[in-house]
Amino acid sequence: MSATTTYPNYSPGLEGVIGGITNISEIVSETSTLIYRGYDVHELASKGSFEETAYLLLYGALPNRAQLDEFVTTLKNEREVPTEVYTALKQLPKDCHPMDIAKVGFAVYAPFDPDYAAPATDQDANRRKAVRILAKASTIVGNGHRIRNGHEPLKPKAEHTIAQNFLYLMSGNEPDAKTAHVLDSSLTLYAEHGYNASTFACRVTVATLSDIYSGIVTGIGTLKGPLHGGANEEAMKMIQEIGSVDRAEAWIRDALATKKKIMGFGHREYKKRDPRAIYLTKVAKELCVEKGQTQWSEIADILENVMETEKGIYPNVDFPAAYAYYVLGIPIDLYTPIFVIARVSGWSAHVLEQLANNRLIRPACIYEGPKSATWVPVDER
Ligand code: CMC
Repeated sequence: MSATTTYPNYSPGLEGVIGGITNISEIVSETSTLIYRGYDVHELASKGSFEETAYLLLYGALPNRAQLDEFVTTLKNEREVPTEVYTALKQLPKDCHPMDIAKVGFAVYAPFDPDYAAPATDQDANRRKAVRILAKASTIVGNGHRIRNGHEPLKPKAEHTIAQNFLYLMSGNEPDAKTAHVLDSSLTLYAEHGYNASTFACRVTVATLSDIYSGIVTGIGTLKGPLHGGANEEAMKMIQEIGSVDRAEAWIRDALATKKKIMGFGHREYKKRDPRAIYLTKVAKELCVEKGQTQWSEIADILENVMETEKGIYPNVDFPAAYAYYVLGIPIDLYTPIFVIARVSGWSAHVLEQLANNRLIRPACIYEGPKSATWVPVDER
């Protein structure tokens, strides 16, 4: 399309286009609010556990005590993956990104799922698969990290939550309570977000009546990009590149002058503040003080101020997540895989919703190529 051509009913990037109807979450840009099935995400992140949020997304209501206990027990029982998955991960080049490890991990595990052969429309089987996917995500990411760094995978511990399981496998050490708590609330914030690119891609995949694992692998591949989940890693690399508080203002002004995209800022849906970022910024800044690393929050303050005054653009969830994870000692290339550990719950909820009332997702496009080319035999071209 030439820069000036516009077509009726066509919106580049599908901006503003309604892609479907959902009961899972709602984003309200004007009030900077995000609700999961009616509950404000701040309340879920501050009062509940990620496991409760995942249950809410998958089953449609918060669990009572007995339901939560049963769900947590199932998650713990399903946490391990077959050794074939680890064998496959060991074949990967050590410099491949952990998002590729996650993608391969789920692709290899899929045929081992006891419900793998169930029809795509078997919703009971899909929910059982969704629970297994949720249970195994932190293990695949955590032990995938070990394998990539030349260590043997560890056996997950029954007493750990999903957040603790990831931290334990990642480091080989018992996670401290504060780190596990911050990670747990960030998982809730990352769990679900309407028709974002990876969720939409996941719905497109399962709407063909392919299987839930194909949807999850599609989701992981889509989340990897820096305009989506990959932004949390890029944001931290940017903060590191700036390096010191006295360089921050000149750096950001120069970046804007040269039309650079500032990672961790802006959002298609939120024109004001991202509510997830409001919550996580407070947590991240407190953590910087606690850990004696206020240089990161001071750099963040300067970037936020300049972006707001010069562009009217605010941080999204990936910006505070970046330096919160950094001061917690999490390696940068695991930030987007952490997003996977959380978002598998949202993707799976959308798979169930899509298949409950399925129709193939197949938009049209406008052809602008040549229309009457003349066939010339291959040796005469
Ligand atoms: N830095 C500088 N300028 C920006 C930014 C940014 N981060 N975001 C938007 N803009 C400007 C952009 O240059 C454009 O200006 P102009 O009209 O003058 O060319 C205008 O704002 C609209 O930007 P857009 O890229 O067309 O907006 P979009 O709705 O297509 O993209 C976005 C949304 C999130 C991809 C974009 O804001 C962006 O690239 N942000 C950086 C990457 C990022 O942080 N992604 C994470 C998104 S939220 C969590 C998640 O899903 O992972």
